[in-house]
Amino acid sequence: MSLSRRTILLSGAALGAAGAVTGLPVAAAAAAARRPLAYPFTLGVASGDPDHDGFVLWTRLAPQPLAEDGLGGMPDRDVPVHWELAADERFRHVLRRGVAVARTRSAHSVHVELAGLLPGREYFYRFRAERHLSPVGRTRTAPAPWTMPAALAMGFVSCSQYEHGYFTAYRRLAETEPELILHLGDYQYEYAPDTYNVPGGNPRDHEGPETRTLANYRQRHAQYKTDADLQAAHAVAPWVVVFDDHEVENNWADEVPEAPDPEFPARRAAAFQAYYENMPLRRTSIPRGIDMQLYRRVRWGRLATFHMLDTRQYRDDQACGDGYDACPAAFDPARSITGAEQEAWLLDGFRRSDARWDILGQQVFFAQRDNNAGPLTVTSMDAWDGYVASRDRITRGWLAAGVRNPVVLTGDVHAHWASDLKLDYADPASRTVGSELVCSSITSGGDGADSASGSHPWFPFNPHLRFQNNLRGYVSTTITPGQLAADFDVLPYVSQPGAPAYTRASFVIEDRVPGLHQTADTPVPSAARMATDAGADEGRRTVERETTRP
Ligand SMILES: [Fe+2]
Repeated sequence: MSLSRRTILLSGAALGAAGAVTGLPVAAAAAAARRPLAYPFTLGVASGDPDHDGFVLWTRLAPQPLAEDGLGGMPDRDVPVHWELAADERFRHVLRRGVAVARTRSAHSVHVELAGLLPGREYFYRFRAERHLSPVGRTRTAPAPWTMPAALAMGFVSCSQYEHGYFTAYRRLAETEPELILHLGDYQYEYAPDTYNVPGGNPRDHEGPETRTLANYRQRHAQYKTDADLQAAHAVAPWVVVFDDHEVENNWADEVPEAPDPEFPARRAAAFQAYYENMPLRRTSIPRGIDMQLYRRVRWGRLATFHMLDTRQYRDDQACGDGYDACPAAFDPARSITGAEQEAWLLDGFRRSDARWDILGQQVFFAQRDNNAGPLTVTSMDAWDGYVASRDRITRGWLAAGVRNPVVLTGDVHAHWASDLKLDYADPASRTVGSELVCSSITSGGDGADSASGSHPWFPFNPHLRFQNNLRGYVSTTITPGQLAADFDVLPYVSQPGAPAYTRASFVIEDRVPGLHQTADTPVPSAARMATDAGADEGRRTVERETTRP
């Protein structure tokens, strides 16, 4: 990897956001429709859902990304967008080119779905609209289905609340030059400015009200995508994304909103439409009303199969009114977090899999996580703990199918965690049947704090839980036929831009040996924390508490 390529990929994006222009009179609007476009690539470029012969290329035109109507300051007309795919970042060897049409009805987003490319290759892409050229993105095809690649460098992330800090963790992940990035949900948050605050105050503000309409969700997505660090992460590798709750509304469950709301189906449909428009998703994920096909598989040769789950759209409502509870209904075998159809799809995928690693990319904590030191088991009704029978069916499903190496990847809880998975969490001596890696948030919850590994108060009565850390960050994995190695990378602060990243702990999972082996445990240097404290003088104090609204 040359320095020049990194420079292009990491600095090419992100022009500042312009002000909103809405409500033009008809004659002025007609004139605006004829005028040449101002620079429209303010939201960067992205790629996603790679398979062995293609992927999706994405961009969206928005000269004024924060426009209140969600249409990015675009004239109400179709705009041809030329795209190019090359083997080199300077586009000396253009392999494919074509024209896509950006339309008002899809907020001038463009999804180019390519097939017929060579497997296991790196590609570069860019777009042109009128006289404007987009930044360059890098992407890649997955290896051929029958091959066993030597290694895959994959990072995973979740929970990027724009108001809670700077997206430096995205940039630090981009700098590791992963081949694949998974986003496990809470890519954006629905809140109005200053309603979900970190102690000491939010370093940044959302634009617009709490998102309810299509215009609101489009505007919010555009605001997030103006972030240069986020653009750098999209430009460096293909992403595979799944939403969690906040892309729609806190803790929604199928058609049940957080608080009763007859408008919720329309809100969900609007959120899905904007999510599709702003993500590098295949046309199979185009929403149909309140439905959207999000669960899907991505294969990386015979090395890894990623089973990407949707634990929001088909789940039963949270038991016992949500929250933490010792709730008998959580054990009801009739309840499901995946829905019957997705569960059957997943179990069938286990049976058919010939992958060395079967990886579940999903939203909420899978292992049991008891917060009660006494005899009661008190757990989160929003996580798999609220759907115990669902978890049992899936765990037994991978055992019955003889899945060689099951690994669950998770977001949601705004802290790094690592866990051995058990068939019976009540019996610490029962066998370990898999492993779970949970990434911290990119920003949600604010700065957080470092702590000694193993010092979390829940560990004594959850012996399968192996690691926890409440700094922000991402997990960087290297997957080979022999092992899956995971680095839990953290940033000492997110309330100021430009934090360095540190590998706080490392774990290895060996082929055919379920469970985690810790290989490194390195506290963040105190000098890094002092840099934060100096920054606090500017009015943004550091945060030492966990958020209550993952
Ligand atoms: Fe979150």
